[in-house]
Amino acid sequence: VRLVALTLADAPALLDLRVRSGHFLRRREPLRRSDYFTLAGQEEELRDVASQRAGGRGYAFAIVVEDRMVGRIALSNIIRGAFHNAYLGYWVGAEHVRRGYATEAVRMAVEHAFGPLGLHRVQAAVMLDNEASLRVLDKAGFRREGVALRYLRIDGHWADHVLFAITADEPRPALARR
Ligand SMILES: CC(C)(COP(=O)(O)OP(=O)(O)OC[C@H]1O[C@@H](n2cnc3c(N)ncnc32)[C@H](O)[C@@H]1OP(=O)(O)O)[C@@H](O)C(=O)NCCC(=O)NCCS
Repeated sequence: VRLVALTLADAPALLDLRVRSGHFLRRREPLRRSDYFTLAGQEEELRDVASQRAGGRGYAFAIVVEDRMVGRIALSNIIRGAFHNAYLGYWVGAEHVRRGYATEAVRMAVEHAFGPLGLHRVQAAVMLDNEASLRVLDKAGFRREGVALRYLRIDGHWADHVLFAITADEPRPALARR
């Protein structure tokens, strides 16, 4: 598993993966405008990714396995100062799940946050019934901080989420040997 910074050139692969994953992703994401699922829509998002990267506010990556994009992971809404925190979000295409890719990608993103980015804390939020994602974060060494009610508007509904976090001083499972 490798994390590769997303660029405008990734729009077709992202679109393909998102369209083929349909409902699998939609039930875990905010409602999107219909033009989001077009090449222009993906390019618009990737331009925002580039601007966030340039401003040090967020870093989005393709999760790549054997030169193929299998998912996306991002450290976003980075605030420095007294917080030094990033929010972590990720998904894997429906046809690529249950092979350990998300767990490995999360571990790598956390290493990037605490290494090159010099952050202090990474947090993530997971819907209560998202067994796969709850397990990913447990395996990557995140702590459960509590339940935030009506936290994010997912698929048109304000959904309760379990909040997770890890700080740079906490023990983390080792990355798989590559
Ligand atoms: C959550 C998600 C990223 C997990 O990706 P993945 O690559 O399949 O995860 P992994 O293969 O690393 O699996 C991690 C653990 O979850 C378990 N798992 C995976 N899918 C599961 C499922 N549907 N139900 C229960 N457990 C599941 C795996 O068995 C593994 O645990 P184990 O090592 O104890 O066996 C993927 O399901 C996804 O993209 N879902 C839709 C979007 C989403 O929910 N994103 C996260 C929002 S917080």
